[in-house]
Amino acid sequence: MSEKIIQTENLVKRFPVGDGEFTALDDINLSFDKGEFAGIVGPSGSGKTTLLNIIGSLDSPSQGTATVMGKRISSLSHKEAAQLRNLHIGFIFQVYNLLPVYTVYENVEFVLLLQNRSAAERKKAVMEALEWVGIENLAHKKPSKLSGGEGQRVAIARAMVKRPELVLADEPTANLDAKNAHAILQTMKKLNEELKTTFLFSTHDEKVMAYMNRLIHLEDGKVAKDELVQAKTV
Ligand SMILES: Nc1ncnc2c1ncn2[C@@H]1O[C@H](COP(=O)(O)OP(=O)(O)OP(=O)(O)O)[C@@H](O)[C@H]1O
Ligand SMILES: [Mg+2]
Repeated sequence: MSEKIIQTENLVKRFPVGDGEFTALDDINLSFDKGEFAGIVGPSGSGKTTLLNIIGSLDSPSQGTATVMGKRISSLSHKEAAQLRNLHIGFIFQVYNLLPVYTVYENVEFVLLLQNRSAAERKKAVMEALEWVGIENLAHKKPSKLSGGEGQRVAIARAMVKRPELVLADEPTANLDAKNAHAILQTMKKLNEELKTTFLFSTHDEKVMAYMNRLIHLEDGKVAKDELVQAKTV
């Protein structure tokens, strides 16, 4: 039997608006096996980021449950949620938020400083992560000197350096041209195959969807379709 990494049951998320509430996610029942390379797709406002944020323990459900790596998100303390994120989940956002005063190397190393790893261990892991995404030659550059595609690679290296079981990528190619978008997707697919990392994306981008094995279509906070698809091979 395949191992579940994420499971949501009757998940509802409401946000307060004015005097009332807005239902951003409405009765979401999804489950993901380890090693999936799946995309959440749907129009703007359909709830993609809200769902990724809950799975990533950055937010919690209003009703129902989300269980990630055996942990129920709504029952975690702040400290436990931070630990789940620091140790087991890599995040790649559309706006990749590199720290401008630090070099590429230091931006990637930062994640490991939170884990109290030795200097030698950190160096090995950082250089390996930079090699995965093909930017070891940029280690000593500052983010302001990078192209959009290079910056996004640093963000992937930063997400991967701790070898997380799960990577959540929210529109990771939104700022990239087609060539860079394909290169980034190929890199992530390779990491998915080699390290068995589970990837969950949100995207509007047809180019990104073509790499997925599974597409979950959200509409107005509901799952409108959940389909297995033939992914492009790398
Ligand atoms: N903190 C919040 N307070 C109130 N409403 C919110 C909040 N966060 C999200 N929403 C609303 O919930 C809905 C879903 O938002 P979400 O960001 O998940 O959409 P999305 O599918 O990621 O859209 P996009 O493709 O534009 O990124 C939207 O209508 C949004 O306005
Ligand atoms: Mg979004």
